[in-house]
Amino acid sequence: MHVLYVLVALSSVVEGAVTVSQRRKVVQSFNVRRNASSNSTPLQVGNGNFAFGADVTGLQTFKPYGILSTWGWHNFSLPTTPGQTSMEDYTGMQWWTHDRLVTYAQPNPAQNDISSWLIQNPQRTNLANIGFAFGAGNVTEDDLQQKTQELDMWSGRLSSSFVYNGSAVQVETWADPDSDTVAVIVESELLKSGLGLFFDFPYPDRNKFNAPFVGVWNATSSHTTVLQQTSPNTATIQHTLDKSTYITNVAWVGRGTVSGPAKGTHRYFLKVEDSSKLQLTVSLSPEPGLKSPTLETIVAASRGWWESFWSEGAFIDLTAVNSTEAAELQRRIVISLYLLAVNSASSDPPQESGLVNNGWYGKFHLEMNLWNSLPFARWGHFPLLWRSLPGMYKRFLPSSFDRARHQGYDGARWSKMTDPTGRSAPGEINSLIIWQQPHPMYFAEIEYRSFPNATTLARWDDILTATADFMASFAFFNKSTGVYDLGPPMYPVSENTAPNVTINPTFELAYWRFGLDVAARWKTRQNLAVPKTWTTVRDNLAPLPVVDGTYAVYEGIPGMWTDKATTNDHPAMAGIYGLLPPPASGTPLNLTVLRNTAAKIKQLWPLEESYGWDFSMLAMNSLRLGDVDQAVAYLLHSVFQFDDAGYPVGGSRVPTPYFPNSASLLLATSMMASGWDGDEGPHWPAGWKVDVEGFVPAL
Ligand SMILES: *[C@@H]1O[C@H](CO)[C@@H](O)[C@H](O)[C@H]1NC(C)=O
Ligand SMILES: *[C@@H]1O[C@H](CO)[C@@H](O)[C@H](O)[C@H]1NC(C)=O
Ligand SMILES: *[C@@H]1O[C@H](CO)[C@@H](O)[C@H](O)[C@H]1NC(C)=O
Ligand SMILES: *[C@@H]1O[C@H](CO)[C@@H](O)[C@H](O)[C@H]1NC(C)=O
Ligand SMILES: *[C@@H]1O[C@H](CO)[C@@H](O)[C@H](O)[C@H]1NC(C)=O
Ligand SMILES: *[C@@H]1O[C@H](CO)[C@@H](O)[C@H](O)[C@H]1NC(C)=O
Ligand SMILES: *[C@@H]1O[C@H](CO)[C@@H](O)[C@H](O)[C@H]1NC(C)=O
Ligand SMILES: *[C@@H]1O[C@H](CO)[C@@H](O)[C@H](O)[C@H]1NC(C)=O
Ligand SMILES: *[C@@H]1O[C@H](CO)[C@@H](O)[C@H](O)[C@H]1NC(C)=O
Ligand SMILES: *[C@@H]1O[C@H](CO)[C@@H](O)[C@H](O)[C@H]1NC(C)=O
Repeated sequence: MHVLYVLVALSSVVEGAVTVSQRRKVVQSFNVRRNASSNSTPLQVGNGNFAFGADVTGLQTFKPYGILSTWGWHNFSLPTTPGQTSMEDYTGMQWWTHDRLVTYAQPNPAQNDISSWLIQNPQRTNLANIGFAFGAGNVTEDDLQQKTQELDMWSGRLSSSFVYNGSAVQVETWADPDSDTVAVIVESELLKSGLGLFFDFPYPDRNKFNAPFVGVWNATSSHTTVLQQTSPNTATIQHTLDKSTYITNVAWVGRGTVSGPAKGTHRYFLKVEDSSKLQLTVSLSPEPGLKSPTLETIVAASRGWWESFWSEGAFIDLTAVNSTEAAELQRRIVISLYLLAVNSASSDPPQESGLVNNGWYGKFHLEMNLWNSLPFARWGHFPLLWRSLPGMYKRFLPSSFDRARHQGYDGARWSKMTDPTGRSAPGEINSLIIWQQPHPMYFAEIEYRSFPNATTLARWDDILTATADFMASFAFFNKSTGVYDLGPPMYPVSENTAPNVTINPTFELAYWRFGLDVAARWKTRQNLAVPKTWTTVRDNLAPLPVVDGTYAVYEGIPGMWTDKATTNDHPAMAGIYGLLPPPASGTPLNLTVLRNTAAKIKQLWPLEESYGWDFSMLAMNSLRLGDVDQAVAYLLHSVFQFDDAGYPVGGSRVPTPYFPNSASLLLATSMMASGWDGDEGPHWPAGWKVDVEGFVPAL
């Protein structure tokens, strides 16, 4: 059995050749160049768990962009309101759920303070700012001349230069692929006179979104910093914010002094002695005693890591196509790959704004993790996916078992908006959305087709079992119709329906079937018995709801296609034939209905209010329906924007960047490159001559 799968998987790898030198040419042709700081996005160096956002000086001199990490989090102090002083005091809310009361993690109006605390904490922290200190005077960006910078994506080097008061300053900024360290090289005669660097430390703020900048700089008395100059070329600054503390380890070549803080601030200054070159490393660590790697080590490691990244993964070369559409798609593809490696390849799921700034307090959302992390698998970067998966699910398994048990279900119910502890942030939508549940099946199945072996089966087995147990017990047997219903109460992918009446949404029904199919197959592959409850539920799921020959948002939704409220938010019905493969069990999808649905969405959906991944989801739907030109049109829709540095623009609903846009674009383009089971494509517009390498067909 296993041998058969190996042969199938390997024979379907799409072989091609895009030589390393050609890849390099393509990647470097999109190196980002700027002559001024952006007000919304930095240029970044980083490694997925740590990233440094720079302004036009290559540092954070004029724009306080972030240094964000996977580990840097902070809690404000707990409320002191009697009866609301600990997590244990919080009760959530009880809602009727099929004739019984179920407790959901929702804000409780009788417990406002602890409810809010649980939503707002912990927040991800901006660890520090590092910038140029020009000595005397108030220097602004306008005072610098000949500003120019280039981010070389092939090596991970950010080169910046400018002229100040008649003297040139050259800067290189690098990040270590293997630690939370930034390396900086500055060359300028000005270093011998006034020019030095500053290090500054903010306190978190309480806002849900911290964009474009994270932290406040004037809450000086709420936190402390302690400087220790440990040698003529090293210093540490310990930063304590309530119960969080971490160390900034600064090391430089030659003699120098760190002084400060400046009065009323946490700003410190480094000045080197008598040299026109400054070579610096700054390592951030929650533990004391870290020894920073040397600058030479970091530069060599960055060059090596990025060259491997670009050489080893899958690749799409559209440069032989003479069209502005192809050129823009190529730009988005290349920069998205770079930005996802920097911002999303973390050992916890990434947040939607990566390591640029904070959305939702810096927390992450498990339903979005399919978009955020799947591209690493589809583009042949499994080691980046494995940083967080399946480890995150294993780590969150005990609390997810508890969540299901407290609600009277079997198995494990995954949280939605969460943090490194796996706890649910209270929220009506957070507690009632369900499409994150089958994601482990999607990840496991994708991994299996590239690694069809017993190790893969074993490492996902307990996770899939716990997930399928929950999914089966969550489905409610409706005696009058004789089928298993999903909801109420629940929120579907489109988060704007009435939860107490939402029942049997199209996407979730299709995804439940997909998940239970994979879970059953997983057991069969291991010669284990498939639990009867899984197949009973799967084989008796409510049918997909159809209204006027189209798939509806959910069964019985009033005014489908006629009331504007039904054509809003995410058009997830398109996801059942695109993001998801057609069903492996049960009634086949009706192609006429699928086509009608896609046509209605195109005609009626207000896409200007959409999140960017909607466009990729619609593109994937168009591809499966055979309309490649429409797929390209969706991916280049005027509302689906990427800025001059390739950052995905948030649009009307969320701040910039919103990385699910980049990630979903990579999923859609990987389907163009390699098709899917049964139709391996490729699926490019007529006349496009495209070289691709390293893809496995989609499910
Ligand atoms: C930046 O400046 C250089 C040289 O002055 C110029 O060639 C280039 O077009 C400018 N780039 C941008 C993005 O403005
Ligand atoms: C925040 O507090 C919660 C509850 O005590 C705890 O589980 C979590 O680890 C804390 N996080 C940080 C970053 O201190
Ligand atoms: C849903 O029903 C519960 C009672 O079970 C009620 O408390 C809640 O307010 C209702 N929610 C909405 C959005 O109507
Ligand atoms: C420096 O100049 C800027 C722009 O003119 C101004 O906004 C800022 O307040 C000044 N800062 C100081 C410390 O004078
Ligand atoms: C600019 O440079 C001149 C010498 O070339 C020096 O006298 C002057 O102080 C400098 N000004 C500033 C603001 O650094
Ligand atoms: C910090 O600055 C903000 C915005 O300028 C202001 O609203 C706030 O009151 C200040 N906080 C302190 C502690 O000075
Ligand atoms: C590319 O297309 C443009 C317009 O479609 C055309 O003018 C140009 O000659 C083409 N270039 C090549 C190299 O085919
Ligand atoms: C089996 O798959 C895992 C990934 O799940 C991979 O790391 C490993 O190399 C594979 N082992 C064999 C023997 O192919
Ligand atoms: C059974 O299904 C029907 C049709 O979907 C629905 O109206 C009814 O509320 C369901 N019954 C229960 C007990 O949920
Ligand atoms: C597919 O849907 C169309 C439109 O609702 C319907 O006419 C047709 O009978 C359906 N086909 C099947 C096989 O159910």
